[in-house]
Amino acid sequence: MEIKLLHYLDKHQPTSIANIADGLKLTTLETLKLIAKINQIQTELIVNSDATYRLSHHLDWFDTAKIKELLVNKNLDYTLQLHDQLKSSNAYALKHIEQFKNKTIISCDWQYSGHGRFGRRWLSKIAEDITVSIVYTFPSDFNIALLPIICAVAINRLLKNHSIQNCIKWPNDIYVNQTKVAGILVENLVRNRENHTVIGIGLDNFASWKRNKLLVELVTSIDTLISEFNLFGFALLRREWLDNCCHLGKRVTIVQNGSSIAEGKHVDIDEQGALVIQNTSGLQTYSSSAISLLLND
Ligand code: BTN
Repeated sequence: MEIKLLHYLDKHQPTSIANIADGLKLTTLETLKLIAKINQIQTELIVNSDATYRLSHHLDWFDTAKIKELLVNKNLDYTLQLHDQLKSSNAYALKHIEQFKNKTIISCDWQYSGHGRFGRRWLSKIAEDITVSIVYTFPSDFNIALLPIICAVAINRLLKNHSIQNCIKWPNDIYVNQTKVAGILVENLVRNRENHTVIGIGLDNFASWKRNKLLVELVTSIDTLISEFNLFGFALLRREWLDNCCHLGKRVTIVQNGSSIAEGKHVDIDEQGALVIQNTSGLQTYSSSAISLLLND
């Protein structure tokens, strides 16, 4: 119903509460409650003035036909599954993984309970940001551990193509001006000796790019990087990751379960994408997905 109301407002704004209630076949009270709920989810998305309601900004809804056309133009043979709303595109993809062919894009206009690494919540703006899960089937010998690194380079390149300076924080967070603008969560299931892999990406649309186009550019960049990895291996991508790393050569603290477990200079990532730091004990490697790093002053 939230999305229905937003679509209604997008077409009819500014409009009265009576009109919205009528259009949605709700009572006035139900409509007011729904508006309050939406504004709680996203502050002041619906603006009330002079007894009328309107959206605070234009919503850029996904358009299946447009995205399919853009995919064809890029010679990308992907299956597209768009939803108005999903709790979490990664959770949905994993739950129905058997149904999805290799190269399936699952996305929505509103992801209302997205999650990230360490079980953290991932918040995104309705019909503005990108939240997408891309399902791949990889052979059993494909090195899934490298996907976070590969995908981080894909987003780094995409933003650079838009002349946006950005850097990568190990293993796959993308920062612009010290603000995280994208995160990646790779989740994998092994079935019949194949990897059924979900690459979940949240990308803030901080420059108000056209959303349909941005989604296709993102999928294109991920597809290109996976092809480059399959063709040429990891060495060049590792170099590119290092060249665009936020913290290379800087002193960092390694954090696990909220406690600092080591400190040192971030000097490298290894052939498995693991973090390499140097301190008085020598070179130390951390590969666990349970650790994160903080920049020292
Ligand atoms: C992180 O930085 O911790 C990773 C964030 C990943 C968020 C994306 S949004 C699409 C997909 N669905 C989810 O629930 N999570 C991922």
